[in-house]
Amino acid sequence: MWMYQLAPAGTPISIPDLAYWLHAQFNQSGVLEEFRQSICDRYGVRYCFFVSTGRAAFSLVLEAMRECASTEKDEVVIPSYTCYSVPASVARAGLKVRICDIDPRTLDYDYIALEQADFTRVLCVASANLYGIPNDLPRLGAIARKNGALVLDDAAQSMEASIQGDFSGTLGDVGIFSLDKGKNITSIDGGIIVTNRDDLGSLLQAKVAALPEPSLKTRSLYLIKLLVYSSFLHPRLYWIPNGIPWLNLGSTRYTVNFLKESYPVFLASVGKRLFDRVGLITASRIEKAQYLIKKIKGLDNIQLITNPSYISPVYLRLPLLIKRDHRDKLMIRLKQAGIGASTSYPTSIVDIPNIDSNLFRGSCHSEAGRWVAKMILTLPTHSYVTKADLDRIVLKFR
Ligand SMILES: Cc1ncc(COP(=O)(O)O)c(C=O)c1O
Repeated sequence: MWMYQLAPAGTPISIPDLAYWLHAQFNQSGVLEEFRQSICDRYGVRYCFFVSTGRAAFSLVLEAMRECASTEKDEVVIPSYTCYSVPASVARAGLKVRICDIDPRTLDYDYIALEQADFTRVLCVASANLYGIPNDLPRLGAIARKNGALVLDDAAQSMEASIQGDFSGTLGDVGIFSLDKGKNITSIDGGIIVTNRDDLGSLLQAKVAALPEPSLKTRSLYLIKLLVYSSFLHPRLYWIPNGIPWLNLGSTRYTVNFLKESYPVFLASVGKRLFDRVGLITASRIEKAQYLIKKIKGLDNIQLITNPSYISPVYLRLPLLIKRDHRDKLMIRLKQAGIGASTSYPTSIVDIPNIDSNLFRGSCHSEAGRWVAKMILTLPTHSYVTKADLDRIVLKFR
């Protein structure tokens, strides 16, 4: 059993996927065009651009928004608990962060706090849609609009989630998706920008066209990562990379020195192939999460995330809130059982160890964000999770 280790997140890339990838090398830009068209058709967007990472997408969008808005607007509202890449992208765009605390019951913004925020210099409000659970975008959008701010619908973690039939990523002025390794679909790395706004669309088109191409070294690294990821994500093999300390799998680091380059076109065929079956991949995640929710609901010390009924999550992972002592014990037990649970981002945004305090503007009230950082545990929902794994997880909780 010790050799069986489920990764906390991931999307398997199969041998037929690799065969398709190899075959598609003869028509790389044609496949990228097909991928772009599939995104535009499915999400009903006119503009769709590919870049090196979700972070690059996020910061390019902010740069474009800044050029569209009045010059004194230089702040981006982000939640007190989210992925460290979010403040890093704001910093990289040369803008400031305005923190708004979250509601720990939903992991969404605390909308009373958002209503009361000082919007004088706010350029945009970013959604987070963590773990595939969409934020209440209609409510967020209404507050942003009332205060003259734009909305960046960050669907890095929530591709295919929806609100009343509208897809996550399409519910703001501009949206982004991530094609990183732990996301709903992956091409190892990559970011997608979508919008229906002509002004932002043309600005972004120029910005994306001006990005440098990935170097030969970077492309070689992508190739190695693709082969390693597709081989070692399997639970019978994942213990190997997971046991190599310098790989630091699943660790959360804050850095503003991320790649801001063109998308590595030779990886588009992997993303396109997974996007062709994104409905199936998503349905399987939802089914697993719902099974766990049904079994775990009502247990002592465990709090499930609750959302309005009009929100349809995709559960990239299943987040739970658990009292700290209990959480740490449970993590050990799950690890011993080969289940890749995760304690997710270890701190709220304001407590990130090496973050520049000059990045923040206004009150950094983050009580709920800090509380969630201490209590959160996420469970895997990906395709390698079997019914037997789900039952073992439930057993550990009981
Ligand atoms: C909410 C959120 N936004 C943006 C990003 C950045 O995406 P990428 O890892 O592709 O740079 C991430 C990455 O995990 C994320 O979770």
